Amino acid sequence: MPTEPTAAPSTPDREELVYARDALRDRGFAVIPAIVAGERLHGLRAEANFLIREFTESGYRSPDFWHFTPTSSGNDVLYRIHNLERQGAARTADLFRSGPLHTLASHLLGTRAEARVCALVVKMPLHAAAVPWHRDRTDTPAGTACNLSLFLDPSTPDNGCLEFAERSHLCEPEISVDEIREHCPAKLVGALAGDVVAHDVRIAHSSRPNTSARIRRSIVIEFVATRQESR
Ligand code: NI
Repeated sequence: MPTEPTAAPSTPDREELVYARDALRDRGFAVIPAIVAGERLHGLRAEANFLIREFTESGYRSPDFWHFTPTSSGNDVLYRIHNLERQGAARTADLFRSGPLHTLASHLLGTRAEARVCALVVKMPLHAAAVPWHRDRTDTPAGTACNLSLFLDPSTPDNGCLEFAERSHLCEPEISVDEIREHCPAKLVGALAGDVVAHDVRIAHSSRPNTSARIRRSIVIEFVATRQESR
């Protein structure tokens, strides 16, 4: 792969981080611009391209490559690569192990943060279906676990950007997603390539179909706050 000059590094200034931490705590989500750039972003995009082509062109199938098959076309549509750090992609594995997302997660959660799960979310052009409203999990208090989505492509309403029910991370686990939708305003949240969208795992969220000709890919890593032993 050609080397590129190192682009602007990925350290948001302190004010931006404080704003994002407060937004995540109060609204349940935050956008932190330009966390990954330049050669690192280029490398992650190349690895994602390779894995997607393995599925679409080489016919590779595995329990980690989640897909659906529309009856209309009969063609498999890839939508998620699970256990992404174990698919032989070195830069992606590095991103899961340490680096800018770990630093960001620690700032956002206010303590050391551990990466738990890593996936590539893929919204194929013209074929990706909507993801219905859901909460990732509610078995942990608000502010203790978040998903960071690193966007590899620009994300807009027409290619299926994320949509959040504001402040719904504060709702009790028993409250249904339908009830949440009646009370919490929905916010569409776009992003540029290299941006991170953080959301509390408890927030209700969804995404629309990709009706555009542009692919929308994001690497999603769940981080959990780790307690200090001396507390
Ligand atoms: Ni989700």
